[in-house]
Amino acid sequence: MAWAQSVAGWLGGFLLLPVLGLIPPPKNVKMNSVNFKNILQWESPAFPKENLTFRAQYESYQRHFQDVCKNTASTECDFSVLSKFGDYTVRVRAEYADEHSEWVNITFIPMDDTIIGPPEMQIESLADSLHMRFSAPQVENEPETWTMKNIYNSWAYRVQYWKNGTNEKFQVTSPYDSEVLRNLAPWTTYCIQVQGFLLDKNKTGEWSEPICEQTTDDETAPSWRVAIFLIISVFVAFLFLLGCFGLLWFIYKKAKYTFHSGTSLPQHLKEFLGHPHHNTSLLFSFPLSEETEVFDQLSVITEVSKDSKQNLGDSCALGTSCKPGSQELGSKDEVPSLAHSDSLLLTFTSQM
Ligand SMILES: *[C@@H]1O[C@H](CO)[C@@H](O)[C@H](O)[C@H]1NC(C)=O
Ligand SMILES: *[C@@H]1O[C@H](CO)[C@@H](O)[C@H](O)[C@H]1NC(C)=O
Ligand SMILES: *[C@@H]1O[C@H](CO)[C@@H](O)[C@H](O)[C@H]1NC(C)=O
Ligand SMILES: *[C@@H]1O[C@H](CO)[C@@H](O)[C@H](O)[C@H]1NC(C)=O
Repeated sequence: MAWAQSVAGWLGGFLLLPVLGLIPPPKNVKMNSVNFKNILQWESPAFPKENLTFRAQYESYQRHFQDVCKNTASTECDFSVLSKFGDYTVRVRAEYADEHSEWVNITFIPMDDTIIGPPEMQIESLADSLHMRFSAPQVENEPETWTMKNIYNSWAYRVQYWKNGTNEKFQVTSPYDSEVLRNLAPWTTYCIQVQGFLLDKNKTGEWSEPICEQTTDDETAPSWRVAIFLIISVFVAFLFLLGCFGLLWFIYKKAKYTFHSGTSLPQHLKEFLGHPHHNTSLLFSFPLSEETEVFDQLSVITEVSKDSKQNLGDSCALGTSCKPGSQELGSKDEVPSLAHSDSLLLTFTSQM
């Protein structure tokens, strides 16, 4: 029994030693690739001895593995040298002195596997709209002008925005480096984030950090304000025209009235026009309204004067000289002709 136990112990020890001597492989090997910056990462295996090193390789076109990192104590290795358009097997193993672990293999297709990092974004608030400018992320190991947008044909920016403090989110997708969110609520803070998006692969990138920006008031007048302004303008113009028309009507009425009273006295006008000095006085006195009132009285008086003419006719019939020419001369003192001034006629009526 003791022999059997010792044999088992010896066998166990014999079997255990090479197992212990076998170095365990790295754990959780993964390619962390963002914008073609390809970092192979792993965890060091549980191993009693320190100073484990690692070797990482990729399989080149000739089915021949090439070292990228060797004898490294680090638990990551930069594979950014890989072409973007390849299809690779990448492997890593732990090494200790002359011994090593099994390889841990992973496949890596940069174009498919790399993560699209967050684009950069600038926001400008203009009235009730937010103007955004995007820059696609730069590509690792390439000149600065190379961006992710240059590598993927179906590149677009997907914008997500929401009112700060609410959960309802809206999305806009644009292939351009700028986009405008219009007709937003005034004086409201909106938060915006953007991601790269590949239309053909339906692949989304990482969201940028939200940027919050406040809208202001709508400076560009909306259509209803323009409409109200127009209506008020038209109304004011209408009132003005109405006023002008009223004034013109008043002037017309006044003029017509004056003209009317003038026609009732055609003789008068003729007589005035007959005497140049009277004519000027007429022109000067015509616009006066008091004068026209006097004229009004005159038209009444003409009838009175007809009566006086009848009286004259009667007096003619009584046998005095009543030739039309001499009548005027003969009755000059008592009966003033219509040609005489208003004051004279007035005095005449008062005499009657
Ligand atoms: C292990 O690493 C330590 C330092 O961390 C060093 O002093 C020592 O020489 C190394 N041993 C071997 C075997 O490489
Ligand atoms: C890794 O690939 C090699 C051949 O390239 C193969 O021999 C080995 O078994 C693979 N390892 C694992 C863990 O799949
Ligand atoms: C967003 O709203 C929260 C409260 O809901 C507030 O604390 C925060 O300051 C706001 N951020 C901005 C940028 O206005
Ligand atoms: C694109 O992917 C999303 C999930 O990421 C999925 O919900 C959607 O249906 C996909 N669209 C198409 C057209 O495949």
